[in-house]
Amino acid sequence: MRGRFITLEGIDGAGKSTHLRWIARFLMDHGRKVMVTREPGGTAVGEKLRGLVLRGNHGLNPETETLLMFAARREHLDKVIIPALARGHWVLCDRFTDATYAYQGAGSGTDWKKIGLLERWVHDGLQPDLTILLDVSPAVGRQRARRRQQPDRFEREKGAYYRRVRNAYLRRARANSRRVRVIDAGRSLPEIHKELEEILLTYC
Ligand SMILES: Nc1ncnc2c1ncn2[C@@H]1O[C@H](COP(=O)(O)OP(=O)(O)O)[C@@H](O)[C@H]1O
Ligand SMILES: [Mg+2]
Repeated sequence: MRGRFITLEGIDGAGKSTHLRWIARFLMDHGRKVMVTREPGGTAVGEKLRGLVLRGNHGLNPETETLLMFAARREHLDKVIIPALARGHWVLCDRFTDATYAYQGAGSGTDWKKIGLLERWVHDGLQPDLTILLDVSPAVGRQRARRRQQPDRFEREKGAYYRRVRNAYLRRARANSRRVRVIDAGRSLPEIHKELEEILLTYC
């Protein structure tokens, strides 16, 4: 049986990595085979791109960055995501195409219509079965992200940038309301886990 494709989204510090680990454990406890991956990344080429985009300061044109993201995504889908789903794994991906709309689109200025063209090309009909949008204010995200070590290029961006990114995510959620579940991630971990559990059980 084909597995399920679940993506986690939200601004930096929203709790994606934290909840992804929890979801992986929850699903394994429910007897599911789980594969965890991330974007940018997930393949050798994708991880190199991650280094280039997150740590580099190459002054890339936002559209160049968008094209690179989708090139790496095609590779990720072909080599990792689609084969894992076919093997029956539940694929948990830390960020996916909604992040391109939010960051390269609303954050940096790539036209959403162009992102839509690339999405149709690269996804070739595949969409996540479920996207969990962890929504927090930029202030909370920033405060939490600060607990980690080195800020990456995006984490050094200003508040206005994060407000655009957050609002873009919420717009994506409204436009894709069957796929995207918005979670108030400003609450405590147990409260969030309770809600995640309810959502996941409907997919199990
Ligand atoms: N709901 C929460 N309440 C308290 N701390 C949280 C919560 N969610 C995440 N954190 C903490 O905030 C920090 C950033 O979380 P992380 O999962 O790395 O975010 P992201 O992957 O979305 O950037 C971590 O130290 C994590 O333990
Ligand atoms: Mg993370």
